[in-house]
This record gives sequence, structure tokens and C-alpha cells, in this order.
Amino acid sequence: MGIVSIACGFFNRTTMARFKFIDIGINLTDSMFRGIYRGNQKHPDDFQQVIERAFNVGVQKFIITGGNLADSKEAIQLAETRDEFCTTVGCHPTRCSEFEQNGPDQYFASLRELALTNKGTVVAIGECGLDFDRLEFCPKETQLAYFEKQFDLAEETGLPMFLHCRNSHKEFLDIMKRNRGRCAGGVVHSFDGSKEDAAALIDLDLYIGINGCSLKTEANLEAMKSIPTERLMIETDAPWCGVKATHAGSKYIKTTFPTKKKWETGHCLKDRNEPCHIIQVLEIMAAARDEDPLEMANTIFNNTLKVFFSGR
Ligand SMILES: *[C@@H]1O[C@H](CO)[C@@H](O)[C@H](O)[C@H]1NC(C)=O
Ligand SMILES: [Zn+2]
Repeated sequence: MGIVSIACGFFNRTTMARFKFIDIGINLTDSMFRGIYRGNQKHPDDFQQVIERAFNVGVQKFIITGGNLADSKEAIQLAETRDEFCTTVGCHPTRCSEFEQNGPDQYFASLRELALTNKGTVVAIGECGLDFDRLEFCPKETQLAYFEKQFDLAEETGLPMFLHCRNSHKEFLDIMKRNRGRCAGGVVHSFDGSKEDAAALIDLDLYIGINGCSLKTEANLEAMKSIPTERLMIETDAPWCGVKATHAGSKYIKTTFPTKKKWETGHCLKDRNEPCHIIQVLEIMAAARDEDPLEMANTIFNNTLKVFFSGR
């Protein structure tokens, strides 16, 4: 493939893989990839193995999700270790109380500073948005205020947005419509809405990110099928959102990986999703839509280049 000069390194990985992917939502700062669960070291740090497995299926870039200020800093540090890593900078709706706990102006200024001083590494503002399924972590009013505030970051940096919307479609659309002109565009990741929800987002010239959580039910599959291929992106949201045997999409999976319930070197771990599983998301999407997976992967790759890796 050609070499495209962009932020966070070059696309110059030569690979035997059949597909090429950009995992647009990968929580690589999660301690599970270091073998640490709830603060306890449960198995050896196998971060490098996880990355190698992803390279082997054709992952070319990892957009590491920055979930709050501290996490965005950590994501940037991690991204500096490899050309294939880049990040988002922002604050997740369930973490938005941190704005108030730290003084909103100070917290915002720190996010801004991070995004502006790491422009080669940071490819999007986010993760930001609304999550009304988890109001116990952050009240609605706070979420609404600081989702909208993060458009200031998108506007000033000129970066697209990495967006989250759970059980909050109407409010999300209201804010998005009011501010659409202030951001270069973006993707609503981990989409689990209806066909109508998808159509409304596409009307706003946004893209839709699909992972295992987007493929749980037949209704999810139907909604996913309604989205034009030119509007799709693909992700894992690992270590979360793995495809489980009980999910409607699982019947379409072709590629499996040696997997253990208890950690063993060279194996995936049953309850920890990994970026290599992105190939399973593609297989489900392509089979459900009756599309050629290679053609589809290429279109999705191009969509992602256009939004996150062009013009700089
Ligand atoms: C993707 O973009 C490349 C480079 O512009 C182009 O050659 C290729 O045909 C595109 N593929 C698809 C499936 O859109
Ligand atoms: Zn999310």
C-alpha cells in the first residue's frame, strides 16, 4: 500500500493480513492489558502480545480513547511509544463531574493545553457525549453542560469528535444540531440506536462506529444494515464490548483465536476483549449486510482516513 503522511506516524506497516483496519475506539490505557484487575496483578503484563495479535489481523492504527483528563494524558504518553498509536483528548459523559470537582475553567484549560500541544498525536476531541444509562456517575445537567463545552475544543483545534450517545438520542441531537457548524465532523461510536437514530446522525454528516455492543440483538443488526457503508467505521472498544456467544451477531463469526478462561501466554482471555477481535466485528457486519468483507473493510478504512487523518 502507499505511504500516507499524516498525524501520529505514517501508514507504512507492511503486513500479510488480508484486511486493513483502524480501530477507532480502543481503551489501551486500561490496566487489564497489563494484567491488573481492580488494582490486583492477576496475570503477567501481555500488552505487547495484544498489539501483535492486532497487527496480525491487519490493524494499522489504534485510536486510543482518552476518557478524562488523566486518562488523555496517559493515552498521549502511550501513543508516543509507537507510530501506530494516536489518541483522543476529552471527557466521557460519566466522568463530567470532574469538571466541577476541579474547577471547570481549570479542567477545561488543561484539556485544551493537552490537545493543542500534542497535535501530531491527538486526532479527535472525545470521548464526549451523553450517557443517560449511567446517571449515577454524573447527573444529566452536568453531562449536558460539559458535552456542549467540549465543542469549544473541537472548534479551536479543528479536530473531529469521537462521540458517545447512550439512551439520550434526543438531547444528543439537540446539542449536536446547535453546534454542528463548530466541529469538523466526527463519529458516534458504539452505536446501539434505531434506524431512525442512525438516519438523523447521517443527516448531520456524522459517521457511525460499530463494535460488539452494536451487534447484540436482531434489532441492532437491522439498524446497522440500514447505514450506508460510506458512513461506517469499525472499532472494538476493548477491553469492553466483546462479541459474546449469546449475541445475535455471533453466528456470523468466522475467525476465532486461541482463548482461555484463565490467562495463558499466547492466548486471548475469555472475558477481555482485544483489538484483534475487530476482524469478528467486520465478519458480522459483512455477513449481515451480505457485502464483500474486503471491499467493506477498504471503504471503512477510507472513511476513517478521511475524517481523522486528512488535511494535516
Ligand atoms: C480507498 O481509497 C483508495 C485511495 O484513494 C482508493 O484507491 C480505493 O479505491 C478506495 N477503496 C474503496 C473501497 O473505496
Ligand atoms: Zn463510549
